[in-house]
Amino acid sequence: MNAYENYAAVSADYDRTRVPIGVEVILGCLAASGGPLASSRLLDAGCGTGGYSAALRPHLGAIDAVDLNPSMLGVARAKLDRTPGCPVTLHEASIDALPFEDACFDMVMVNQVLHHLPDSPHDGRPLLRRVLGGLARVLRPGGAAMINTCSHEQLRRGWWYATLVPGAVEAMCRRHADTAELTRLLAEAGLRPRGRFVPSDAVMQGDAYFDGRGALDPAWRRGDSLWSLVSESELARAIDRIRALDEAGTLDAFVAEQDRMRPSIGQIGFHYAVREPGA
Ligand SMILES: C[S@@+](CC[C@H](N)C(=O)[O-])C[C@H]1O[C@@H](n2cnc3c(N)ncnc32)[C@H](O)[C@@H]1O
Repeated sequence: MNAYENYAAVSADYDRTRVPIGVEVILGCLAASGGPLASSRLLDAGCGTGGYSAALRPHLGAIDAVDLNPSMLGVARAKLDRTPGCPVTLHEASIDALPFEDACFDMVMVNQVLHHLPDSPHDGRPLLRRVLGGLARVLRPGGAAMINTCSHEQLRRGWWYATLVPGAVEAMCRRHADTAELTRLLAEAGLRPRGRFVPSDAVMQGDAYFDGRGALDPAWRRGDSLWSLVSESELARAIDRIRALDEAGTLDAFVAEQDRMRPSIGQIGFHYAVREPGA
C-alpha cells in the first residue's frame, strides 16, 4: 500500500538519520487528556523502526505498534528488545484496517505516515478518511489522537535542501493534507481538534541533517522519503550544485542560509485531537 518508498531497503539505514522528535509534545498532550499515563494503552500506527515507541514506553502502561513493512518491524523488534519500559506488542498490519476492538486504546499516534497513503488530493483523500475513521473507532471516548505531519510551508521552507529539489517538494505537498484540510478531516472523523503544536527547534534527521555533503550519499538520502520523489534529472542537478558549492567552499554557508526559516517554523507539527463521545 505504500506506493513510493521502499522501506525494505530503507530499514537498515533509517535510524542513522532519523530521531523521534517532539516526544515531550506527545507526552504533554497525552497527560492532558485524562487518566494516568502509567496505565494507559497507546497505539503507534505506522511505527517504522519503533523510535517513538521506544522513547515513550518508560512512561506508559502498554503499547501496540503497527506497521505494514516486515523489515521496519524487524529493526523495531531488535531496538525494543534493548530498551526498558512497558510491554510493546508489534503487529504487521495496515493502518487502514486496524486489527483491534472498538475503543480499546487510551491514545493513538501516527508519526510521519499519512503522506504514504496512495491518495489523491483531487478525490477527497478516501484512504486518509478511512484511516482517521479507524483511529477514532479504536480510541476510547475522550482519548487523545496525536498526528505528526508536515505543513506545506514546512515542506517548502523547513529543509535546507528543499530549493534544490523543487519538483519533489511540490509532489510531497500534494501527498500531505495541509493544516486546514487535516484539521477538517479530523473533525469529520469524530476527532475534535484541540490544537497543533510545533517542536520548532527539533530536527527530524538529528545532527546528520546539517551535513551538506550528506546529500551526496544515498544512505543519508534514505532518511527522508522526499528523495524518493526526486527525478533522476533533478537529483543530478542537485548533486552537481552541492559539489560545486563544496568546491567553492560555500556549501556550509548555503546550508545555513537555506535553513534560516526552519528554527522558527519547524519541520513537523503535531495535530492533537480528542475523540468525541459519540464518534
Ligand atoms: C516515515 S516512516 C515513519 C516511521 C515512524 N512512525 C517514525 O516516525 O519514525 C513511515 C512508516 O509508515 C509505514 N507505513 C506506510 N503505510 C502504511 C500503512 N498503510 N499501514 C501501516 N504502516 C504503513 C512504513 O512501512 C514506514 O515504516
